[in-house]
Amino acid sequence: MINQSKFNAPALAVEHTSPGLEGVIAAETVLSHVDGAAGRLIVRGHDLEDLADWSFEAVLSLLWRDLAPDALDEESIRSALGRARVNASAVAASLLTATDKLSPVEALRLLLSALADREELPHHILAVAAVPVFTAAIARRRADKAPVEPDAALGQAADFLRMLHGVPAGPNHVKALDTYLVTVADHGLNASTFAARVIASTKAGLFSSVIGGLCALKGPLHGGAPGPVLDMLDAIGEESRIRPWLADALARGERLMGFGHRIYRVRDPRADVLKGAVSALRDKGGRIGFAEAVEAEALAILAEKKPLRPLQTNVEFYTALVLEAVGFPRDSFTNVFAAGRMAGWTAHVLEQDKTGRLIRPQSRYIGPMPEGPSALAG
Ligand code: ACO
Repeated sequence: MINQSKFNAPALAVEHTSPGLEGVIAAETVLSHVDGAAGRLIVRGHDLEDLADWSFEAVLSLLWRDLAPDALDEESIRSALGRARVNASAVAASLLTATDKLSPVEALRLLLSALADREELPHHILAVAAVPVFTAAIARRRADKAPVEPDAALGQAADFLRMLHGVPAGPNHVKALDTYLVTVADHGLNASTFAARVIASTKAGLFSSVIGGLCALKGPLHGGAPGPVLDMLDAIGEESRIRPWLADALARGERLMGFGHRIYRVRDPRADVLKGAVSALRDKGGRIGFAEAVEAEALAILAEKKPLRPLQTNVEFYTALVLEAVGFPRDSFTNVFAAGRMAGWTAHVLEQDKTGRLIRPQSRYIGPMPEGPSALAG
């Protein structure tokens, strides 16, 4: 049960400004907690590492518990998502041609906007079901291929890959994508989740709220980082060039992509979980072995050149490897992130709805004052 007492406190005088809202507690949540100092991500009472073997549907059941109108278990969620993917596929079919001039994330935004508030399916289920359907259809259209109809009997990760490739994916790939979706399902009050909660607080409705979340995720400071990790691996090219390439990049003052984090100082638990998923995906081309060699050298050179700054591998490094290995095109990565984060957005919107408090901070006026005496002065 959410404690609302703090939300009902009388308005306080505004004493300080915090432009990025750093240090401001803007919501109370039972959903997840990011403990950067300890390198922990807690999702509804579970360390992320303990959820690594859970299915995405089981994590949805955990996040939606007591918040969604119908408390569904893992199996019921799997079936409901399957049926909802079929509904979403009809929406994609009617609108796909309208996405041709858009980037993949803009195309996803357009298709999600077509979900109607009068839709009878529970909106949180339809929103989660729709992202893989739309993402796969958008990626295929950009490759001049027709969309693949959903298979309602499959789990979300298996059907996502099947709709992307047109053939069933192997169990290792399905498991790796499932782990990825679980890993990014929720992460405290990040920018997109906050955006979704602000919209939800106006009672605008779930689809409008999660589309707001997607719009925030679209920005390169939030959801667009894994592509550059692959660009870096491509630029290094071969094992003999790893050390000199990294040393030159640092000498030029560049950042090594996929290392360091603003909040996680000791370790990024999401990186550790995805590292496990990646190690099960040994590829013939040796890309993963090569990436691991780059990672080891990068950690060594960062420790040497930046001894005062603990810089560890972050979630983007392994995200790039997982999504590339299971066959997503690089320009779809943000949409795949949205497929996972939709779990958190929907849960936060449901939770925000229960607190029933409009989010309405204040600004500090620093513009000019009108000249002359106030019209209110006696
Ligand atoms: N490579 C080289 N040096 C780095 C890196 C890096 N990846 N990250 C931080 N540093 C160095 C900085 O150069 C700086 O060194 P200096 O004090 O000698 O000038 C020092 O560490 C502190 O830099 P800040 O920008 O203050 O560190 P912060 O922790 O705020 O930065 C950030 C976090 C932006 C993620 C940074 O580590 C970075 O740019 N990493 C590379 C890009 C990346 O991987 N982004 C994805 C992050 S994961 C996510 O957002 C979901």
